[in-house]
Amino acid sequence: MSVSPERGPVLALRTPRFWLRLMNLSVVSQQYLDWIHVASEFINVKTPHDNQRLDDLRAYIAAREGRHDVLFLAIVNAESGKHIGNIKYESVDVQTGVAVMGILVGDQAFRGKGLAGEVLLATAGWLKIHRAIHTIVLGVSVKNPAAICAYEKVGFVLEDKLLVVKSHLDQVLMVKRQ
Ligand SMILES: CC(C)(COP(=O)(O)OP(=O)(O)OC[C@H]1O[C@@H](n2cnc3c(N)ncnc32)[C@H](O)[C@@H]1OP(=O)(O)O)[C@@H](O)C(=O)NCCC(=O)NCCS
Repeated sequence: MSVSPERGPVLALRTPRFWLRLMNLSVVSQQYLDWIHVASEFINVKTPHDNQRLDDLRAYIAAREGRHDVLFLAIVNAESGKHIGNIKYESVDVQTGVAVMGILVGDQAFRGKGLAGEVLLATAGWLKIHRAIHTIVLGVSVKNPAAICAYEKVGFVLEDKLLVVKSHLDQVLMVKRQ
């Protein structure tokens, strides 16, 4: 992972295949909205009506800009410059050292290619160094074996006790300690 010196330590992280750029309103598009709708079964959208319109999505992003307790990054294909997904840590709790992670590989052509692991390891490493985060937690549906498999490959383990409130009954908790 490298850090873009001219744009500050969190504005642009580089992995072998991707740029991870701080989320901002310029990435809002109908395509991004469509990704959310297609994946809403698996990602934590508060209600089925959240992020229905481009304005809702803009408000959602604006509400997270500049926050020290959120790391919200657009995943950009370094080769094409195209926005292909997002990774978000919310909250990032520097007091407890715990961060809650969610990821969306929106462009289906990039699924099953190890993107989640590459991006997770780079961002987890950054959070460890810059925010003293030692534990990353996430909720995942038992009906999403691809996600569980992707997380296990980079060191997440299934937990049998709750660290966060489950938002859906079929969700299990996974934890990575670093
Ligand atoms: C789930 C998700 C995060 C996994 O990320 P990824 O980068 O595709 O993960 P990987 O490439 O490591 O693949 C994980 C597993 O997915 C399966 N997979 C393979 N090809 C796939 C494809 N085209 N599409 C989906 N899953 C595929 C495989 O079982 C693979 O395991 P393997 O590497 O041992 O063969 C991503 O597919 C995604 O964002 N999906 C939609 C939203 C979502 O479910 N988010 C997670 C909410 S908890």
